[in-house]
Amino acid sequence: MSIDAAAFKKGMRHLAASVTLITTRHDNVRGGLTATAVCSVSAEPPQILVCVNKTASAHDPIGEAGFFCVNILCPEHRKLAERFAGMDGVEGDERFQDMGEWTTLTTGAPVLTGCPVSFDCKLVTKLSAGTHTIYIGEIVDVALHETATPLLYADGCFVHGDALKKAAQAA
Ligand SMILES: Cc1cc2nc3c(=O)[nH]c(=O)nc-3n(C[C@H](O)[C@H](O)[C@H](O)COP(=O)(O)O)c2cc1C
Repeated sequence: MSIDAAAFKKGMRHLAASVTLITTRHDNVRGGLTATAVCSVSAEPPQILVCVNKTASAHDPIGEAGFFCVNILCPEHRKLAERFAGMDGVEGDERFQDMGEWTTLTTGAPVLTGCPVSFDCKLVTKLSAGTHTIYIGEIVDVALHETATPLLYADGCFVHGDALKKAAQAA
């Protein structure tokens, strides 16, 4: 017997997480989503995983393109996080058009400039898991931005990483 989805979601609100944008490009069309179900897998080889809902518009393009980028967001990217979570009604490639500065590294997946870090990945494994697919990527390139702090998500709210830093320093 497992718990129901509502109880699961209620409990998961207590797991604070860094907010990321998962991006890809397939048939020269960019796609992406906001995601917090992201986790490191191994250092050698360097691998990271992301869990993507099978109904998300970027789900199939990631699998078909065979590459994706994990952009770890900072507080300045909050509006982008809302957009790629489908909160402003803008869809598909249009999500990239008038918000954020975009470049590429090795794979061709869209890389958002100014992130604390962006991991450019080639897809090595995909696992079906209920409503989601676990995509495991091997990191083939990275963009680091030492000074940036992360945007977090906890208890249903976006939290600025630097607010936590200040609270810790004050404690
Ligand atoms: C903070 C936050 C975290 C999310 N994390 C995930 C995630 O890890 N995996 C996922 O598939 N969707 C996640 N979502 C939902 C997707 O961002 C959303 O459904 C997205 O817009 C995909 O749908 P669409 O591209 O088809 O509109 C998250 C949404 C928010 C606001």
